[in-house]
Amino acid sequence: MNIAVFASTNGTNLQAVLDEVAAGRLPNADLRLVLVNKQGCGAAEKAKKAAISVIFIDPRDEQGQPLDRETYDRQLAEHCQKHDIDLIVLVGWMRILSPWFVRQYPRKIINIHPSLLPKYPGMDLDVHQAVLDSGDKETGMTIHYVDEQVDHGQIILQKTCPVLPGDTADSLKKRVQELEKQWYPEVIRELTEAH
Ligand code: GAR
Repeated sequence: MNIAVFASTNGTNLQAVLDEVAAGRLPNADLRLVLVNKQGCGAAEKAKKAAISVIFIDPRDEQGQPLDRETYDRQLAEHCQKHDIDLIVLVGWMRILSPWFVRQYPRKIINIHPSLLPKYPGMDLDVHQAVLDSGDKETGMTIHYVDEQVDHGQIILQKTCPVLPGDTADSLKKRVQELEKQWYPEVIRELTEAH
């Protein structure tokens, strides 16, 4: 299966996938490119180190104005088509994909989210802070297919971990990411083997 990763942040989960590829534990996954919307983000650096092609797609036009969602996503799709991509893996992709884009890849885009969806959709540290503010004793991660609604599509896997006294959004992020690093490669392995 030809895979594209979309990333905006540090790329912790990308590194976990790259490590599995390097160890030969994802034999049916051909990680062809990493698309980023933030130039020089950690994910871009990690991909470059692993000799994976990185493409930055600027979310702004020449006048510095934000591109509309679909115009941006048509560029994403162009690169995915060029590389014959079968599966898109979001690893800390901090942009909402347009319905147009999602319709091009039905059940072929997966996302990892740092909470037990449908609880706490949203972005990264905000999610962990919301868990802390709610007083929940447990949190976790969700891997799901992407549909036209944000943080919503069919759930593939959820794993839980405790919220401990004294936790901060950062300490919770670390604990949840231990689950993410373990289980995202596993789900990719299963999807690519079933293909
Ligand atoms: C990841 O933990 C991922 O679950 C989350 O952002 C983090 C990025 O990690 N994704 C979302 O919040 C998507 N809504 P990183 O900073 O190590 O790259």
